[in-house]
Amino acid sequence: MAPPEAVPHAPAQGRTARPEGVTAPPAGDAVLEARSVSKRFPGVVALDDVSFTLRAGETHALVGENGAGKSTLIKILTGVHQPDGGGLRLGGRPVSFARPAEAQRAGISTIHQEVNLVPLMSVARNVFLGREPRNRLGLIDFARMHRETTELLDGFGIHVDPRKPLHMLGIGTRQMVALARAVSVDAQAV
Ligand SMILES: Nc1ncnc2c1ncn2[C@@H]1O[C@H](COP(=O)(O)OP(=O)(O)O)[C@@H](O)[C@H]1O
Ligand SMILES: [Mg+2]
Repeated sequence: MAPPEAVPHAPAQGRTARPEGVTAPPAGDAVLEARSVSKRFPGVVALDDVSFTLRAGETHALVGENGAGKSTLIKILTGVHQPDGGGLRLGGRPVSFARPAEAQRAGISTIHQEVNLVPLMSVARNVFLGREPRNRLGLIDFARMHRETTELLDGFGIHVDPRKPLHMLGIGTRQMVALARAVSVDAQAV
């Protein structure tokens, strides 16, 4: 099986190519690294000695045919699977994640293709799901939640009514809401 591309073959520590005239941000420190990661499932080697470095400010695309191991690598980076060989480093320190919650606590946030948001709830409720601002009575502070959602989304160039049910937005906008949510949980690596 061909390995997922951009990963083992990534030039210069995996930095993405940029169109001419577009200046790259200064190469930051390594945020997240996979070092010689291997993962086998019964009857198949999903990842064989895969290394990858994500530096501050970088965006990578992981490309490969079906079964190349893309999902497996992402699942290892986000604590869904544990590597059989090799390991991860976060901010230069070796880390291991026994479960997704541990990766999340470490600042690694994932947005799945199938956005894991609640379609019938408002944009603001989705952004603040599980960590809604509350008033002194313990009730959700909707005014503050709507204001903060608008500010957050404005920062991404998305101008939507925070009261709007999520399902009324297009899929692209929904994914941007998921991204804004992920970033607002102080994620280091998205
Ligand atoms: N949970 C699993 N159990 C058994 N085999 C798996 C599991 N997850 C992935 N695989 C196998 O590992 C290989 C890589 O799969 P995957 O990472 O999903 O590839 P991709 O996302 O690039 O399509 C495939 O051969 C797949 O069948
Ligand atoms: Mg996949």
